[in-house]
Amino acid sequence: MRLRYFSHSACQITTDDNIKILIDPFLDNNPTSPVKSKDVDADFIILSHAHGDHTGDSESIAKRCGSTFICVNELANYYAEKGFEVHNMHIGGSHKFSFGKVKFTIAHHGSVTNDSVYGGEPAGIIINSCGKTIYHTGDTGLFLDMKLIGEMNKIDYMLLPIGDNFTMGIDDAIKAVEFVKPSIAIPIHYNTFPVIEANPEEFREKAAKIGFKVRVLEFGEEIEL
Ligand code: NI
Ligand code: MN
Repeated sequence: MRLRYFSHSACQITTDDNIKILIDPFLDNNPTSPVKSKDVDADFIILSHAHGDHTGDSESIAKRCGSTFICVNELANYYAEKGFEVHNMHIGGSHKFSFGKVKFTIAHHGSVTNDSVYGGEPAGIIINSCGKTIYHTGDTGLFLDMKLIGEMNKIDYMLLPIGDNFTMGIDDAIKAVEFVKPSIAIPIHYNTFPVIEANPEEFREKAAKIGFKVRVLEFGEEIEL
């Protein structure tokens, strides 16, 4: 299985049998993504919430690829009304797809589309696929239930925001890593805009001091999980 990080919260998981899953594909208007929407394909698009810096190019990609949206009920209905294939879920629920299992967790944030439609509750995403467990927290502040998430799931890779202002900053993200105890933490949602500037090396060093491993991915980099 491979993970490609585009920058911001956008990434792609490609399974061993070549199923492509995009998460929060904000590419064309993302000043830091070296990859644009025309260059990516998706069988599934998972959205953490409805903000434009997460829904991004979902519609154009889904139109071209016939992708299925996986999101919380309200946001899934929004895309269903536009004629897209959707799978409605909600927080606390999990479902087994062709590529593996998806579970939505809580996230403390907002969720409204660019055209002011309420997108339901924002979510974090836990994916079990190809023997690995990935926790993409979505946009969120720090919350104590992350401890429970870490207790109930052996998280191999945790993708979490460090950019502050709209989400956790570095110090809260360190506490989140302490709660979840992932094998590897990957910082996201930073340096896209001036207001969320953060140094991922500072995050890496602070995590190392308390015994946790951080892997900082280049924007556009793909790694084998
Ligand atoms: Ni947001
Ligand atoms: Mn965001």
